This record gives sequence, C-alpha cells and structure tokens, in this order.
Amino acid sequence: MSRYLPELETIAREAGSLLMSYFKQRVTIEYKGDVDLVTEADRASERLIVERLQARWPEHGITGEEGTRSEADAEYRWYLDPLDGTTNFAHGYPVFCISIALARRDGQLEVGLLYDPTRDEMFTAERGKGAALNGEPLHVSKTKTLSESILGTGFPSHKRHKNPNIHFYHQLTLRSHGVRRAGSAALDLANVASGRYDGFWEFNLNPWDTAAGVLLVQEAGGTVTRFDGSPFRLDSREVLASNSLIHQELLNNFEEMFAGRGFEELPSVAEYVKTRE
Ligand code: IPD
Ligand code: CA
Ligand code: CA
Repeated sequence: MSRYLPELETIAREAGSLLMSYFKQRVTIEYKGDVDLVTEADRASERLIVERLQARWPEHGITGEEGTRSEADAEYRWYLDPLDGTTNFAHGYPVFCISIALARRDGQLEVGLLYDPTRDEMFTAERGKGAALNGEPLHVSKTKTLSESILGTGFPSHKRHKNPNIHFYHQLTLRSHGVRRAGSAALDLANVASGRYDGFWEFNLNPWDTAAGVLLVQEAGGTVTRFDGSPFRLDSREVLASNSLIHQELLNNFEEMFAGRGFEELPSVAEYVKTRE
C-alpha cells in the first residue's frame, strides 16, 4: 500500500470538486501579464491543496504555481499546479487538471498524481511501482514509427513572441498523423502515459507542469528527455516525452531542425490567394 496515494487522491478529488464548482459558474479572470490568465479558482485550489498537504506532511516543502514556497531545505518537496489549463478553464473549454508530485531534494521523483475532474480520471504513479488510471495499470502505446504517430505539443501564453515552436509544430505535423495542442501540458504527458498520444514536446515548461506527468510516462514504459536526448531534470525547460519506441526518431528530427536542416518551407499565403476563385 502506497504511503501517499490514497490520501493524495482524496485531496485531489476535493480540489477537483472545487474547480468544477467554479467551472460551472462564471469565473473572474485576472491577467498575470499579456494573456497569462489566472482565476479565483487557481488560487482557491492551491490554498486547499497546500492546507491539506501541510496538515498531513508538515515536514515537506511545497512549490506551488500560484506562489506557495515553503521549507526551502526540506528533504522532500511537493510540486503543485492547482489548475493546469487555466486558459481553457477560463473560456469554458473542458480540458484542465490538477497536478501534484513529490520529489526528493536531489530531484528524484517519488509520486505523481494528475486528476482530470471533467472526466473523473485519476492518473497515479509511484517510482518503481508503475502507473495507473483509475486503478488500472497504464502503458504507453506500441506505435513504432513517427509517420504512424499522433503527437501533442503546447505554446506558452507568457513570452509567446519568443517561442520558436511553430516551426517544430509545422514540420512534425507533416511527418506524423498530426499534432494536437490541447492546452494542458500535464494532461498531454498523461496522454503519452496512457497511449492516447505517442509523443509530446514543449519549450519552457515549469516543474509544476511536468513533475507528475513525467513520472507517469516513465512508469508507464515511456521515455522523457530534453531535446538533445540528455536526461530530463525538474529544472529542464525542455520536455520531450514518448512511448520510447519513437524516441530516437524524434531526437533525430530535433537534431536536424536545430541544425537548420530538413525544413520543408511553409506555403506562402500569396500563392494560396492566387489559387482562390
Ligand atoms: C500552461 C499549460 C499549457 C502550456 C503552458 C502552461 P497553466 O499551464 O500547461 O498547456 O502550453 O506552457 O503554462 O498556465 O494553464 O497552468
Ligand atoms: Ca501549468
Ligand atoms: Ca496553473
């Protein structure tokens, strides 16, 4: 029996109900910056989860996206995204989740939980003990080639003018069955763990976005690295996750693109306009 999961699941379900009650009402949206939204729900969910974690495991540190920073020197630390997919949430698009992970001071991930309250899906993983969805074992897909794969990616709302991902999105769309952009990096990783996606990548993520999902992918038999194949770490801003079978092919594609080779040109809008009646 896990030391953490049963109680963590209870906390996540409570926070999930809270998010759903805000989701069904109109939520008040605030702007962190340009289009970086934050809602009352993000903060209320973080408050609830932090309160529960501190009551149960007072010796652990917590890093939460909405500002919680506690116990700088703790041996164990929770990484918490109280609402991943805020832009979706604020617009009434039902793709969002709660993401909670526990890591040791050296960055080793111990436990990961991701709860999607819109579908009542509870994804859980523990180091060395596998991953599960609503208690059933979870496995990555068996797709063997990039050309037969479906992928996910994301684009940040913050500093989006500096993000080069549209080039990678374009190329990998042409080389696969397609690239989805659903708006929750944590759920994207859970989709790789459950075989719904064969791969996922994103630039500039934070540990609260990735920690739980990375452990899920690893425990479901997948691979997570940076874009150059070096090991993923919690402070890695780059994340490349896959079912393991297409990982090398994805890495080869990233290497080529970073070297400026193999790009198929974007069709010009002017050419398209000429073909219109
Ligand atoms: C965002 C989502 C999105 C990703 C952004 C994240 P938030 O998190 O995970 O999919 O593309 O980079 O910031 O702000 O909704 O918690
Ligand atoms: Ca997030
Ligand atoms: Ca968030």
